[in-house]
Amino acid sequence: MSTIHSAAGGRKKLVAGNWKMFTTPQSAAELARAVAHGVAGTAGRGGVLVCPPFPFLGLVAAALERSPVALGAQNCFHELEGAFTGEVSPRMLRDMGCDYVILGHSERRHKLGETDELISRKVRCAVEVGLRVILCFGETLPEREANKTEQVLDRQFSGSLAGLPPDKVPQLVFAYEPVWAIGTGRHATPEQAEQAHAFLRRRAAAAFGDVAARALTILYGGSVNPGNAASLFAEPEVDGGLIGGASLKANDFLDIVKAALPTSTP
Ligand code: PGA
Repeated sequence: MSTIHSAAGGRKKLVAGNWKMFTTPQSAAELARAVAHGVAGTAGRGGVLVCPPFPFLGLVAAALERSPVALGAQNCFHELEGAFTGEVSPRMLRDMGCDYVILGHSERRHKLGETDELISRKVRCAVEVGLRVILCFGETLPEREANKTEQVLDRQFSGSLAGLPPDKVPQLVFAYEPVWAIGTGRHATPEQAEQAHAFLRRRAAAAFGDVAARALTILYGGSVNPGNAASLFAEPEVDGGLIGGASLKANDFLDIVKAALPTSTP
């Protein structure tokens, strides 16, 4: 299969902060305000979003008002409404101002036992209410060492996207996040990221067609920091980043944004 070149896709860079289960009401509001202030002026040149914990969505939405920074959530349930104690509907996320939701993160796959089948139900439910889904893929270290990276990505692709109506494909963003690189300080090399992204784009072309695959934003995640962001984002298949630890420090996150959107003035 031929490589699908990014230039032809005209994709904008996207940088997403995944705050995981960190921050307090006060620090979440401060961080959101600092990010909003830092990216003022970048509107239209790319995308920046932050994904705070559920309880802080409202206060972060308020802090981001009139800023170009979008709001995302870190998870959702696979039904819109019902007797599901403790769960959060994608429609509630929309109502709170979210444009994005992260699904299939490796911490949910590996620490909370989420399967591809469950993730596929969440994806279908989230896109139904108009959310953009940042769908995560990634292999473990033993899988990489056994040369099974593409096999794992292929399985996650087929399973997590099963039954997705083709007209919802434009609402997808992919994130390649090798499990061995998340929170470990050990990032993938730009070449490793490029190869995995190219594989995911070929896989998307086979499933959805070349035009949709070229338009698909594919982020890299896993120990991105201000020191390595520029070299990762320089790869043609790397359309930005999903940032964990470094997104909790406004200055680090804004430096990463700058590396993705070099014409911006944070
Ligand atoms: P990290 O996390 O940047 O702390 O490695 C990335 C992620 O889990 O999305």
